[in-house]
Amino acid sequence: MAHLSFILIFFLIYYSYCQQCDQSSDIARFDCYPENDATQEKCLARNCCWRQPFENRNQREKHFSAFHDINVPYCYYPKDFPTYKLQTNEQTEFGQRLRINKSETTYMPHDITDLTVDLIYETEHRFRIRIYDTIYKRYEVPLEVPVITKKANQTDYDVKINSNPFSLLITRKSTGVTLFDSSVSPLIFADQFIKFSTRLSSPYVYGLGEHRQALLIDLTEKWKKLTFWSRDFPPVENTNLYGVHPFHINPEFNRDNSTNFHGQFFLNSNAMDIDLQPLPALTYTTIGGIIDLYIFTGPTIQNVIEQYWDIIGKPIMPPFWSLGFHLCRYGYNSIENMLATVKRMDDANFPYDVQWTDIDAMSSYLDFTYDEKNFHGLPDFVRNLQANGKHYVNIIDPGISSVQSPGSYLPYEEGLRKNIFMKKFNSTELILGKVWPGITAFPDFTNPNATDWWTNISSIFHDIVPFDGMWIDMNEPSSFIDGSSDGCTMNNLDNPPFIPNVLGGSLSSKTLCPSAQQYLSQHYNLHSMFGYFEAKVSNAALKTIRKKRPFVLSRSSFAGSGKFTAHWTGDNRATFDDMYFSIPAILNFNMFGITHVGADICGFGLETTEELCTRWMQLGAFYPFMRNHNDLGQKDQDPGSFSYAAQQSMKQALLMRYSLVPFWYTRHYEAAMLSRTIIQPLFFEYPNDRNTYNIDQQFLIGRALLVSPNLKTETTSINAYIPSDVWYEFPSGIRVEKVGTFINLDAPLSKINVHVRGGFIIPMQIPGDNLIIGRGNPFTLLVVQSQWGNANGNLFWDDGDSIDSIETKTYNYLEFSLMNGTTLRIDALVTNYQDRPMRLELVKILGVNKTVTNVNINGKSYTNFLYNIFDQILLIYGLELDMLTQSIQTIQWTMTN
Ligand code: NOJ
Repeated sequence: MAHLSFILIFFLIYYSYCQQCDQSSDIARFDCYPENDATQEKCLARNCCWRQPFENRNQREKHFSAFHDINVPYCYYPKDFPTYKLQTNEQTEFGQRLRINKSETTYMPHDITDLTVDLIYETEHRFRIRIYDTIYKRYEVPLEVPVITKKANQTDYDVKINSNPFSLLITRKSTGVTLFDSSVSPLIFADQFIKFSTRLSSPYVYGLGEHRQALLIDLTEKWKKLTFWSRDFPPVENTNLYGVHPFHINPEFNRDNSTNFHGQFFLNSNAMDIDLQPLPALTYTTIGGIIDLYIFTGPTIQNVIEQYWDIIGKPIMPPFWSLGFHLCRYGYNSIENMLATVKRMDDANFPYDVQWTDIDAMSSYLDFTYDEKNFHGLPDFVRNLQANGKHYVNIIDPGISSVQSPGSYLPYEEGLRKNIFMKKFNSTELILGKVWPGITAFPDFTNPNATDWWTNISSIFHDIVPFDGMWIDMNEPSSFIDGSSDGCTMNNLDNPPFIPNVLGGSLSSKTLCPSAQQYLSQHYNLHSMFGYFEAKVSNAALKTIRKKRPFVLSRSSFAGSGKFTAHWTGDNRATFDDMYFSIPAILNFNMFGITHVGADICGFGLETTEELCTRWMQLGAFYPFMRNHNDLGQKDQDPGSFSYAAQQSMKQALLMRYSLVPFWYTRHYEAAMLSRTIIQPLFFEYPNDRNTYNIDQQFLIGRALLVSPNLKTETTSINAYIPSDVWYEFPSGIRVEKVGTFINLDAPLSKINVHVRGGFIIPMQIPGDNLIIGRGNPFTLLVVQSQWGNANGNLFWDDGDSIDSIETKTYNYLEFSLMNGTTLRIDALVTNYQDRPMRLELVKILGVNKTVTNVNINGKSYTNFLYNIFDQILLIYGLELDMLTQSIQTIQWTMTN
C-alpha cells in the first residue's frame, strides 16, 4: 500500500511538472539558466524545466558562447514559477500605484518580496513603468528625465493589470496591437538580479546598442543575446562594446497593411543582457537598479524618436567647422611628419578643416602635456592652423598618472586636493589602474568638484596649446589591467551572483573594480555612464574656456550623451566588412540621439589599401562626422598619400560634402530643435515598403539624399534599392527611370552614387579651402520637383560658433518653396544674423519638362538662364540675390505650352 501511494505521489508530481513545463512550442521558452554551465541538475535546482527542444531533438547540443548566437534553451521557467501577486491598486495623480508581493523566493539571493509599481501615464504617447523596492531606496540612473505628476488627459494606449500572477498588458487603442505584455515569463526582482520579459509586436527590432550588427535584428527563427556594459574592444559581433543604449524600435504590422511603430527604453545603467527570441519576445536581465521602462507609442517612426529624445535630451548643435573634414592618426610621431601631412593636403588642394593629434604628441603619455622634443613648436603649429581658418583637436584620456615626482604634475595634485579621484570600496584610498602613462588614478566625473578641476587643468593647457575641441578616449573606462593594481574585493559588487555575458567573463575585465566608490554611487552602477559624465564635464569646460560652442568627441556613450558630445565607432579595421558595419552603426547612433557620428575612415587597425581608402573616403564624405584616423605602425592613409587618381576620386567626394554643408548644417539644427535624425535608414521614409526594412548598405541624409556606396572590393557596379519615388542622380541631375526596385548602378572607383529626391530643395554653397574660408561664398539651390511640381527646403545659418545663437535667435532661417513647377519663393523668416550678405548665385531646377522662355526675378525679367531640354534642367545663373534683403523673393519662369 505504502508502495502504491509512493508511486501515486511520484506520478502526481511528474504530471504537474509536465503540465507546468508544457509549452506549445520551443520559441515560448524563457531561459532559466543563461549561464554557460547549464545542466539538468542545476536547472532543476532552480525549480525550472529541463527539456530538449522539440525542434532539434537528436541534433546538436545547446550551443552558446560569447561569439555565437544563442539557441533554444533547455532550461526554462515553468508556468508556476514563484512570482508576484497584486496586493493593492491605488489611483494617483499620475496614474496608478500598485503594491505587489510574493511569498516564495527564487534561486537568486536577496529576493525583494515587496515591490511598488508606478504606472505613469506621462503623455498621450508615452507611458512609464517604475517597479522598485517598497521599503529600501535603490540606485536609480542619474539622468535628468522629465518628472510627470499629472496623468495625461488622453492616451492612445490601454493598460491592463493582471493580478495573479502579476503582469501588465499595454495595447494600442486604435488597433488593439500588443505593445507590452509581461505575462510571457515571471518577473524576478532580487537585489542583484532583475528579470522580466515582454512579447514583441513583430520579430523586427531596431536599436539596442552599442553592438556591431546589421541594422535589422530579425528574430524570425532567431535567438539573440545582446550584452550592455561599456567596454574597450575593437568592434566585433556579439560582444558588449563602448556604449550603452537599451532602446529599441519595434514595427507593428497591421491587418490593413499599414505599419505603426513603438519604442521602448529601459532606463537602467547596470550590466545587463537583453535576450531576444522568435516568439517574438524580449527579456531584460539586469543586475541592479530598478525597473524603469518607457514605452513610446509613435505611431510613426519619427514620433518614436521624438518621444525618446524628449526623455534623454536632443543632440548638440555642433560648431560649423566640425562638419568639415578631420584628419588624425596615432603615430605621426613627430611634428615634421604631421607638417608633411598638412602640406600634402594643401598641395593637393583638398578641402579640410581640422587637424588632430593622438597620444604620441604627449610627453610620456601624460594628459595636458605635449612632447616638446618631437612636437616642438606645437603651439605655433596650432596658431598657424587657426590663422588659416582651420581647427585643432587633441586627445585626453581619463587616466591621470599618479606616479610623477611630487610637484611635477598638476592634474594629479590638483585632483588630490579637490578630492575628485575614484576610491576603493569603503576606503579613502584611490583605486589605481593602468593606462598609457602607467599607473593612473581615475577622475570621478559625477563629483561636482570635478568640473572645476577639469576646467582648470584644461584651461592651463589651453593657454599653452589653444585646442578647439576635446577628444575623450578610453572612457569606458579602459584599463590595461583587470580591476586595479591591487585586484578587487571579494564582496558581492565585485562578485555578483549573476554576471551578464560580458566580454572577459568578469565585470572588472579591462576596467576598474565595480566596487570602486564614486560620488553618486558605486562604479557597479555608474560604470557604463563614465563616458557620459566625462562628456558632460568636458562640454562644460570647453564652454568656459573657449566661450564658444563646444566640440567633444567621446568613445564611450550612454543614453543622452548626444546632448554633450559627438561620437566615433572606435577601433575598426581596414576591411570592407568594417566599412559596411559603419553604416548600421551610424544609423543606430542617430536613433540614439548622437547624431554627430562617424567611423574611422579608411580603417583604424590593419593596413588600408588605396582601393578601400578611396571607397571609404567617398562613403565618409556622407558621415555626419568625417574623420580619417589610423593606428600606430600603419602606413599613412591621409588623402594626400595616395596616387593622383585616388586623390581625384577622394577630392570629388570631399567637394560634394563641402558643397552640401548648408544642407548638413540645417539638418543639425533640425536634430537639435525638432528631434530629427540627420541620417536615417530608408524605412524611416518608406515605412510601408517592406523592401526597405533591412537595407543598411544605403542610407538617407535628412529626407532628401540617398547614398549608395560601393562596399565590395574589385567591383564596378552595385545593386542598389531605389524607393518608389522621384529620384535624380546627384550632382548630374539625370532622372532615374526605374524605381521601387533594386537596380544596377555604375560604381567605378571614381564614383559614389548619390541621388536626390523629388520634392526637396537643397541649399548648397561653393566650397572654400575650409569651411571658415568658404563661409562668405555664394549659395546655390538645387530644386528637385516632385511629380506634382512642388518642392520645399530650408536653411539655418548663424555664425557657426556661438553657444547660444539659437536661444538668442541670432541666426537666419530661410524657407524655400517651389509652387506649380514655375515659381520658386524664398522666405527669409528670421534674419538676425546680418554679418554678411547671403548671396544666391545659381539655381538649378530638375524636372522642368517644357521649354522655358522667360525668367523673372522679383518681377523683373532676367536673361541669364539655360534650359536643357534633354535632361529637363533649368539653370538660372549669375544671380546676385542677397537672400536676406527682403522677406519674400520670387524667381518665376514661363514655359511654352
Ligand atoms: C584608442 C582609440 O580608440 C584610438 O582611436 C586611439 O588612436 C588610441 N586609443 C590611442 O590613443
